[in-house]
Amino acid sequence: MDGSLPIAKDAVTPEWMRRRTFAIIAHPDAGKTTLTERLLVAGGALRMAGQVKARGERRRTQSDWMEVEQKRGISITSSVMTFEAGETTFNLLDTPGHQDFSEDTYRTLTAVDSAVMVIDAAKGIESQTLKLLEVCRLRDVPITVFINKVDREARDPFSLLDEIGETLALDLSPVTWALGSGTQFQGCWDMVGNRLIRPQGESGTADGGRSFESLDDPAIEKLVDPSVLEQAREEVALSEAAYPPVDGQSYRDGHLSPVVFGSALKDFCVPELLNLLSRLAPPPRTQPAAPAPVQPDEDRVSGFVFKVQANMDPNHRDRIAFTRLCSGKFTRGMKLKQSRTGKPLAVQNPIFFFARERELAEEAFAGDIIGIPNHGTLRVGDTLYEGTETRFTGIPDFAPEILRKVRLDDPLKAKQLNRALHDLAEEGVTQIFFPRSGSGTVVGVVGQLQLDVLLSRLSAEYGVTAGFDPAPCETVRWVSSDDQKAMADFLKKYPARIADDRDGDPVYLAPSAWDLGRVTDDWTKLSFAKTKERG
Ligand code: G4P
Repeated sequence: MDGSLPIAKDAVTPEWMRRRTFAIIAHPDAGKTTLTERLLVAGGALRMAGQVKARGERRRTQSDWMEVEQKRGISITSSVMTFEAGETTFNLLDTPGHQDFSEDTYRTLTAVDSAVMVIDAAKGIESQTLKLLEVCRLRDVPITVFINKVDREARDPFSLLDEIGETLALDLSPVTWALGSGTQFQGCWDMVGNRLIRPQGESGTADGGRSFESLDDPAIEKLVDPSVLEQAREEVALSEAAYPPVDGQSYRDGHLSPVVFGSALKDFCVPELLNLLSRLAPPPRTQPAAPAPVQPDEDRVSGFVFKVQANMDPNHRDRIAFTRLCSGKFTRGMKLKQSRTGKPLAVQNPIFFFARERELAEEAFAGDIIGIPNHGTLRVGDTLYEGTETRFTGIPDFAPEILRKVRLDDPLKAKQLNRALHDLAEEGVTQIFFPRSGSGTVVGVVGQLQLDVLLSRLSAEYGVTAGFDPAPCETVRWVSSDDQKAMADFLKKYPARIADDRDGDPVYLAPSAWDLGRVTDDWTKLSFAKTKERG
């Protein structure tokens, strides 16, 4: 393959160069869980398929730890799975596929260097795929496409490629090709390694593959049904003429997406995908930060918190800050400075996450994700660093689309509620706003499902039963201005529509979109922002 990267475990290749930190993104049901499972098996992190998700009555992955998500059968929280394959250390970040959690997904995608997009071969691009693509594009995350379920009836490969190419607005480069589909499925052709991978046994899972001169090799005629082979030969020739060969540099620069046709369930082209990621996917990239971007080869340690999860283990009421390292060599016990508070933090018990267990992280490098147990000191968006003051950027809060007032069933629990809302706001499960009028706290979420999660966690983890009432506003905006007088006039004019967010920054509670439009037009010296940078 062209543009391969050095990944040898030797003294010359820096550790960070061997890291591949990526996420799998997909519309629900496209096969993300199955592919995750297969990748872990291929990487030797799981001995048998079927362990990531107990199929049947209940869907679970390692990340499915909450009652509400088990009930709904969807994956809500992001988690991390680290595994090694060959010389490469992979950090696979799980992203919630459900549309209600786009904010969480967005933050997870700030912590990866590339993404694998799983597409159902019968369905093509679906609504959630589109949204996730937009996020990847915002962050310039290079994408590999895995067209899944080729063992089933699939759409015409060229129509799929056309659709994907148009949507991504990138060059595509198919690296494997399916021979037939559905009942006619006869295997896959590895266009880079010139290997034929065929179904074996009753289960029809992939064999180890066999090398040939080319797909035109007459020996293949004994192995594949003539009509399927004839069509595949035509298609592969057409594909090679129509699409550029895969080029690592162009892919890492975000100009080209390699496309793998395969089947996660039957294990077709999963090892090929892993190999491609290992050889071509970007190692840790330069991260946007103030005052200057941080390079992965800098000696000083730096990283940022992209996710906080509380109570992962009900036996230990712990809170884990998932931290993406961006430079340097981290060692356990190290003291790092926290950007938001300026205070030093001794990282005594950092954790690595594997498919089935956690382990103390003695050392870690740029690209690695460590979990830092803490009691609420670390928030999403926080930067941890050595040396020059640094703050990673591009990890925003989004103006919530759903706003509610919290109604307590037992008024004596007001204190617990307050504490719980602060905790959950730090995790990013909800946002909280305190109206200056003194009326009850307003919570804001991006999706309806988050409200259910909120109630369920209030009750399960804090013993607070609560419900929701309509909020006095339809949307919120962070208000700021360089003109202090204009700002003061505004705050004075609308005392009942101003609230403070959890950092004490003012927000405008807009009763309607129309009102917001009017206020924005009238107060030109003010900025009404839809997002707010964290950290
Ligand atoms: P998700 O995490 O993206 O939501 O998808 P998941 O892996 O759960 O897969 C959704 C369904 O698609 C599952 O079937 C799964 O077995 C099936 N599937 C995934 N990859 C392939 C593939 O390559 N080929 C075929 N034929 N099927 C595939 P299900 O019946 O909904 O669930 P289950 O009862 O098998 O768990």
